[in-house]
Amino acid sequence: MQTWEAIRSRRNVRQFEDRPVADDHLDEILESGRRSPSSRNWQPWDFVLVKERERLEQLSRVSPGGGYVAAAAAAIALVAPVPGEAERTRVYYDLGQATMSMMLAAAGLGIGSGHAGVFDQDVAREALGFPGDRFCAFLIALGYPAGRPLTLIRRPNRRPFGEVVHRERW
Ligand SMILES: Cc1cc2nc3c(=O)[nH]c(=O)nc-3n(C[C@H](O)[C@H](O)[C@H](O)COP(=O)(O)O)c2cc1C
Repeated sequence: MQTWEAIRSRRNVRQFEDRPVADDHLDEILESGRRSPSSRNWQPWDFVLVKERERLEQLSRVSPGGGYVAAAAAAIALVAPVPGEAERTRVYYDLGQATMSMMLAAAGLGIGSGHAGVFDQDVAREALGFPGDRFCAFLIALGYPAGRPLTLIRRPNRRPFGEVVHRERW
């Protein structure tokens, strides 16, 4: 799939087929995250790939909106240094860029992805074992979408183009 198609086909997928994603595809998705740009190239991320069902179930309990992670084929946990006040904005900006790179790479491979916020750091740390000076910012659930594959979304649920885009001045 071309980038433009991947952009127009990606949507948050929260129901997955019960089949694995190939390791080389998972690595391609992770590599897309690793190549992401970041402020002064500081690369504040580590990615923890999880495929074991029991660990996915544990991770699904880190937030009320993350229950669907339990049935994903895999999940990527984005772990970063606990930011000081001055670093907070750029940590989240950079993690957002890495997230979107990985989601588009997944969409390009026909693989669905979904975000889950992480509220309970203790549960996340118990599942993943990351050090005390880090936190788990987000989970990306991955798998083949159940029901309908990723296809072109002709009418996305978004504010109109003409309202969002300003040319030259507001
Ligand atoms: C920072 C962030 C956190 C999100 N957290 C969750 C979440 O915890 N659970 C969930 O089901 N979706 C979550 N989402 C997905 C959004 O609800 C979704 O991207 C948005 O509704 C647009 O839908 P689409 O991605 O299908 O286009 C999150 C998205 C972002 C960007």
